[in-house]
Amino acid sequence: MKKEKFLVIGAFGQIGSELTAVLKRIYGENQVVAVGHTTIPEDYQGIAVKASILNPEEIAALVKKFQITTIINLASFLSVKSEIDPDGAFATNLLGLKNTLDLAKEFHLKVFWPSSIAVFGPTTPKNNTPQSTIIEPTTMYGLTKRAGELLCQYYFLKWGVDVRSLRYPGLLDYKTPPSQGTTEYAKWIFYEAIKKNLYQCPLREDTNLPMMYMEDAILATIKILDTQAKKIKIRTSYNLYAFSFTPKQLALKIKKFLPDFSISYKINPQIQTIADSWPQTIDDSKAREDWGWQPKYDFDETVSIMFSGIKKIIEKQNEY
Ligand SMILES: NC(=O)c1ccc[n+]([C@@H]2O[C@H](COP(=O)([O-])OP(=O)(O)OC[C@H]3O[C@@H](n4cnc5c(N)ncnc54)[C@H](O)[C@@H]3O)[C@@H](O)[C@H]2O)c1
Repeated sequence: MKKEKFLVIGAFGQIGSELTAVLKRIYGENQVVAVGHTTIPEDYQGIAVKASILNPEEIAALVKKFQITTIINLASFLSVKSEIDPDGAFATNLLGLKNTLDLAKEFHLKVFWPSSIAVFGPTTPKNNTPQSTIIEPTTMYGLTKRAGELLCQYYFLKWGVDVRSLRYPGLLDYKTPPSQGTTEYAKWIFYEAIKKNLYQCPLREDTNLPMMYMEDAILATIKILDTQAKKIKIRTSYNLYAFSFTPKQLALKIKKFLPDFSISYKINPQIQTIADSWPQTIDDSKAREDWGWQPKYDFDETVSIMFSGIKKIIEKQNEY
């Protein structure tokens, strides 16, 4: 049997940097080709190349050169950037996915591409959001994710492309710096709390959003990729869930480590509007039934890992 060989596009982003490391550990360093868009970190160990998902000839050449069997396409504009540059988001998120699926069809590749809870819109039931429900996203990011999910299913139904996808919730890790996403406040808050004992939150105190510790998202990704094709019953994208919290609840958890910590709220209307269009809790029973998904980390454990990880990073920065 041919050994799996992975092409990871967007390999040096938040998810890619962790997923690539785990794939190398499981399958071997030579089985993973990491694709960076414009730069490759100097300390990266393994096969790494620069290419764009918007240049399919370039990606096809890599597929042939490295005899790739699975493409993992993580290249994306996230929620906030997609509202700032909707044309760029449409191209990278949707045309980039179409390029991936066309290559998978031509070279008989397995595909993993993440969707998001952003796929749901204001008309979706907010609690215990079902797998199949009203899905009318109002953001460019959500729109590209919904169209992308349907495109994945279309390539599966029409040409048998073995594509697998997960609707990730907000992902928390301490290894990569926080960015501008809608759920990124839940990373910034640790930095500001540890440095200043203060945090000004861009979301309302009662904004309840689904979140997950990064290691669980990586384990789910490895697991769905490793599952027999016949067990993958959903070819749009699976709901995936661990826990939800509000900024107020997170601040109370942080207070257990820093009793003097205080949070204030200065609502950013753009981010709040995006958050208000997303669900609060998710029904992921299909993923549990079909391929045995189960999260390992709960809210408390995630907060304590995030707190100690970010504290160490800040202490190290202060040494210089
Ligand atoms: N991080 C989360 O909380 C989260 C939640 C839900 C879904 N997702 C999805 O997971 C995927 C990865 O997200 P992430 O958080 O790692 O994002 P990220 O922004 O950290 O990484 C994306 C990477 O894609 C690269 N990229 C951008 N344009 C490219 C192009 N044209 N060609 C090749 N590479 C390009 C960027 O350089 C970046 O390294 C995305 O599809 C995102 O929508 C992420």
